Amino acid sequence: MLEINEETKVLGVIGDPIKHTLSPMIHNTISEEMGINAYYVPVHVTEGLDEVVRCASKNGISGMNITVPYKQEVMNSLVEIDEAASRIGAVNTLVPCEGGYKGYNTDMPGLFRALQTKGISLEGKNAVVLGAGGASRAVCMMLITYGAEKIYLVNRTIEKAERIAELSEKIVPVKQSDYKSIPEDRYIMFQCTSLGLREGDGLLVDDHEFYKMADFGYDLIYNPPETPFIKELKAVGAEYDNGLSMLLYQGVIAYENWFNVSVHETVVDVVWNNLKTAVYSGNDTANKNIILTGYMASGKTTVGKYLAEKLGYTFIDTDEEIIRREGRSINEIFAEVGEEGFRKIETEVLRSLASGECISDIASPDSGLVISCGGGIVLRKQNLPLLKKLGTVIYLKADEETTFNRVKNDSSRPLLSSENQEELREKIRNMLELRRPYYELASDVKIDTGDMSVSEIAQEIINQVN
Ligand code: ATR
Repeated sequence: MLEINEETKVLGVIGDPIKHTLSPMIHNTISEEMGINAYYVPVHVTEGLDEVVRCASKNGISGMNITVPYKQEVMNSLVEIDEAASRIGAVNTLVPCEGGYKGYNTDMPGLFRALQTKGISLEGKNAVVLGAGGASRAVCMMLITYGAEKIYLVNRTIEKAERIAELSEKIVPVKQSDYKSIPEDRYIMFQCTSLGLREGDGLLVDDHEFYKMADFGYDLIYNPPETPFIKELKAVGAEYDNGLSMLLYQGVIAYENWFNVSVHETVVDVVWNNLKTAVYSGNDTANKNIILTGYMASGKTTVGKYLAEKLGYTFIDTDEEIIRREGRSINEIFAEVGEEGFRKIETEVLRSLASGECISDIASPDSGLVISCGGGIVLRKQNLPLLKKLGTVIYLKADEETTFNRVKNDSSRPLLSSENQEELREKIRNMLELRRPYYELASDVKIDTGDMSVSEIAQEIINQVN
């Protein structure tokens, strides 16, 4: 966890709206992973941008990002502007300099780095750019800067394409209805319109044949992940990617500018996984919960707590929840009402979790949950639909030896009280045998935990859930 103290360098992002920004997560993860004492906050600015920027500089704010709608306006408040940013006409990163801030645009190099990691080069390539807004201007600048040969810039409003074409004679403005004038060739294509953001949106060029000319396509829209443009590329078998990788790398490059460091690929991987989880696993809130099942000592609690911390979710242990409600220990419940009585209580707890009844006692209503289940929860048939309703059910598999070593000295497990070690081993073997089919049936995802570390298991769960 990040510790904030008087040495902490403060970073932030200015925008309006700013509520759903992913930038704090990107930058705070980098700081944490790299051990840099910095903290990044969103700043909601509705007016007085110039005043805010000057005040930030005077008070030693170590770096800022600027997002919608201020990427142009902020240029009036800077001491210096990087040449590429100036040609793009937009600044998204402020780096302290003598007397204030210097403005950069890391969107363009961010996209370029995203393409490089996919092995896509621009040198000598022909490109089609769809759309002629601010994003398109940055993409065209990138194509020119990194050596593209020819750029066909298609837009509904031709005048806007013509304005961008003033950047270079390599850019050919094309009216939407004239797309057939683009010569038959191989292209890399960039989708820079807002078409695809909303359900039911169409394509700027609505012609399946057109996309057959694509070797690679990039949609700047990252949510939803599958836009009509991406669907076309998939259909013709072209390679593709979307704007989430650009979001990632514009952040990484901004960070590198602030601290004059190089963010290693292993750190980038951690940010990338967090970013994908934040954007895509939140799409279906009803199903974003993660339910961990498996035989006792399979790692449900350890992995569950780690995962909850990583995702910013609330961790719930069904056994703990039972103890909390009943006001007595599991051993006491077993002694008083037997296993059958315990299982009934357990089902009741699941039911109230699945209906959301008791959530407010435990977590904020929109928090995701990581629920670690008692080892025997899968034995009751009526629990299975409740588990599925609660979220994605993960089966953590551990073998007999691992289980034996983990439970042999643990007296808190009533089902495993045994006279001697051989008897305990025998009990474990039988239970594993007996319960395996139930776990298989109950789960959406199986993970053979084998020699994996806690963080590796957590990462595998995140990958599988995505
Ligand atoms: P950004 O700054 O993110 O690039 P923008 O400046 O609002 O966003 O640009 C939006 C792009 O999507 C423009 O190219 C716009 O076309 P126009 O220049 O003709 O307005 C395009 N766009 C948006 N809705 C469209 C639609 N329904 N059909 C065709 N193009 C559309």
